Amino acid sequence: MIKNIQSVRGMKDYLPINTAIWQSIENILKKILSNYGYKEIRLPIIEQMSLYKRAIGKVTDLVEKEMYTLIDRNGDVLTLRPEGTAGCIRAGIEHGFLYNQEQRLWYMGPMFRHERPQKGRYRQFHQLGVEVFGIKGPDVDAELILLNTRWWKKLGIDKHIRLEINCLGSFESRENYRNILIRFLEQNKNLLDENCKRSMYINPMRILDSKNPVVKNLIKNAPIIIDYIDNDSRIHFEGLCKLLDNLGVSYEINHYLVRGLDYYNRTVIEWITDYLGAQGTICGGGRYDNLVKQLGGHSTPAVGFAIGIERLVFLVQELNPCFKQLSNYDIDVYIISYGSNTKIIAMCLAEKLRDVMPEVKLVTNFGEGTIKKQITRAIKWGAKLTIILSEDAIKSNNVILKDLRNGTQKNILQSEIINVLKTLLK
Ligand code: HAM
Repeated sequence: MIKNIQSVRGMKDYLPINTAIWQSIENILKKILSNYGYKEIRLPIIEQMSLYKRAIGKVTDLVEKEMYTLIDRNGDVLTLRPEGTAGCIRAGIEHGFLYNQEQRLWYMGPMFRHERPQKGRYRQFHQLGVEVFGIKGPDVDAELILLNTRWWKKLGIDKHIRLEINCLGSFESRENYRNILIRFLEQNKNLLDENCKRSMYINPMRILDSKNPVVKNLIKNAPIIIDYIDNDSRIHFEGLCKLLDNLGVSYEINHYLVRGLDYYNRTVIEWITDYLGAQGTICGGGRYDNLVKQLGGHSTPAVGFAIGIERLVFLVQELNPCFKQLSNYDIDVYIISYGSNTKIIAMCLAEKLRDVMPEVKLVTNFGEGTIKKQITRAIKWGAKLTIILSEDAIKSNNVILKDLRNGTQKNILQSEIINVLKTLLK
């Protein structure tokens, strides 16, 4: 027997039943983005590997273990994008739209990370990312958080998602903190697991994120970064907290929030829910004021975040009943035809209706079947109304209109169809 070919592990199909909910959530997100003046940018899903190495940091889990990298026919080393920030900056430098300009951009699409798949963690997943370039004050950090808050409210999940923030200071002050942290870890080496011992000198700040309960306990006594940040970063962070207080946004300062990518400085944020277990971060981001320069551009302040759409969709479906019932199969009108030459009349009528009622979802029955069988199909499609074109009805310039929501049925003149549909679908 021929073995079926399966999808790649950790890469999911999204069937029409899923895409209806995705589309409706995405539309809400996009509407609010446009409300804040953000514009879409579409970027390739594959870039030079060196871009990610330079941007994300050589000793991060992402670059060391999780990238999908391949060598193409020219011998170029390419990587399926694990995130969108690096590509966005690469495009900005290449097209010169970052220099001395303010940019407010968003992108959406698949990202790829070779992680161990589990609920809320996939190898192909989707992000909606937002990046702002050219603004250095904390006001824009606060506005991004307001935008997030508006999303969560509109999606009905705001009561179940909390904001954690931290300040990582400048790269110089971070280096100083890093050494202090290493000293602390050296003094407590006996409490560290093998993993932590391995990252101790390479990326000690990752240990602050450890899930090991013994290490977690130890970290409670570790020096915290906020005590070592530079003065400008402190002013920035205090400014952000003040803005959030005045805007009525609740947040928690998490001194151990460091994020997994190396490019951040100053503000880092995460939106977290308890509904997704270990994969509870729905949205994460922060400032990366040095990255544009690091990638070859002019020094440009920048801040952004990305949401994991799978996680967001899961949460919205769990918590908001309006998104539970959505299905692609809800249509407005199903056209049934029965008898010789009725099919072509049905197709012509469908096209005429689409011309004048472009917002109506309309399906024409194809394939044979009695009227009863075709009505069963209309019900399966979740149609509200069916128009039945039988030979007899057509001869007398009529059609039969059946309202599947209440079972009523009547003959109407063909010339009346549009008006009747408009009234019934109001
Ligand atoms: P990140 O925290 O790596 O940040 O990813 C952002 C979000 O993508 C996470 O909070 C999570 O919801 C989702 N995500 C990450 N990995 C997976 C996965 N394997 N499966 C499902 N969802 C996942 C970034 O990518 C930064 N580029 C965000 C950013 C933009 N920072 C500044 N600008």
